[in-house]
Amino acid sequence: MIPSVLPTYNRAPLSFVKGEGSWLFEADGRRFLDLGAGIAVNALGHANPELASTLKAQADTLWHVSNLYNIPQQQELADRLVAATFADTVFFTNSGTESCELAVKMARKYWYDKGQPERTTIITFDGSFHGRSSAGIAAAGSEKMTKGFAPLLPGFRHLKFGDHDALKEAMKAPDVAAILIEPVQGEGGIRPLPEVCLKGIRAVCDETGALMMLDEVQCGVGRTGKLFAHEWAGVTPDVMMVAKGIGGGFPLGAVLATEEAASGMTAGTHGSTYGGNPLGCAVGNKVMQIVSDPAFLDGVNAKANRFRQGLEALVDQHPTVFESVRGLGLMIGIKCKALNTDVVKAGYDAGILTVPAGDNVLRLLPALNIPDEDITESLARLEQAATALEQKS
Ligand SMILES: Cc1ncc(COP(=O)(O)O)c(C=O)c1O
Repeated sequence: MIPSVLPTYNRAPLSFVKGEGSWLFEADGRRFLDLGAGIAVNALGHANPELASTLKAQADTLWHVSNLYNIPQQQELADRLVAATFADTVFFTNSGTESCELAVKMARKYWYDKGQPERTTIITFDGSFHGRSSAGIAAAGSEKMTKGFAPLLPGFRHLKFGDHDALKEAMKAPDVAAILIEPVQGEGGIRPLPEVCLKGIRAVCDETGALMMLDEVQCGVGRTGKLFAHEWAGVTPDVMMVAKGIGGGFPLGAVLATEEAASGMTAGTHGSTYGGNPLGCAVGNKVMQIVSDPAFLDGVNAKANRFRQGLEALVDQHPTVFESVRGLGLMIGIKCKALNTDVVKAGYDAGILTVPAGDNVLRLLPALNIPDEDITESLARLEQAATALEQKS
């Protein structure tokens, strides 16, 4: 008989009743160090007191009003994002997938309004992930995500990640509307796009007019040690998708755009019942206030260095389990020799939560404010997991 919850997930036999900082607790009191943070969502840890009191205060005042009216919390968050980034304007969503949907619509409407309606194709890359909607799976294009769901939304052309020649060739086609790419692939296995590639994409977009659209749903909001990952390369996109960390655990997403890129999105062209609601935006404002502080970002980089050094040593000590460490800031991938899912399971026994990703990578996406002692404890628990795996083989 089908379970009452649609069985689309392979769930671990764990069930948490409480969270505090980087820790999750089961009902029997057993605690786990959470290095997944809800897959890069709980950017400031579980039950962060500042976020909790912001949410409670907003909940006592006003939960929801329609976008038929002005929403002051939304205006404040948009102003913050515009002040902190390349963007001139922001649309609020509830998830990364919805942000992807709007980015695709925005690119197509841009060219339609420019009198070039044939420019509909969006270039994407292998190993990418942009959500599970019809546009999201068509954008990623992998068999794993698309099999059985035909007909797929047309208008996506898939290239090899990091293949400059293929990109240059593809950009000669007259129907290209935009390039959509993650500056650091998350689901694909924590693959940072080299700075030179991001610069190259900016250059080719400038030459052809195609919009540069960055998916920073996983790598944005301080995760890599800059407010947004593209800042490392010193280039700015035309459109950027955000979600996950910006809500710190409350469902919130956004599409940021330049005035030019957003020029087609006039009244009536897009909307969302919940997008930009007072609860989400109140929390988003608090997250942005904390994370955009340069001292906070310095802290992320310091923690990332500390983690990285420890992990390099761990990899050296367990060469049959681990191969190498990669990533940017606190978006860390450990390429495994053992099966990554076996390492995740051994982690459960050692009281530590990690997330598998593509390319046999173990993903570590801890809270950005993880205390140093929890980093030390994480390394000890990962060591315990690796030793247990070695003893088994
Ligand atoms: C890069 C990227 N884009 C889009 C999404 C989809 O976001 P959501 O699950 O919030 O719809 C994800 C989720 O993992 C992601 O990592």
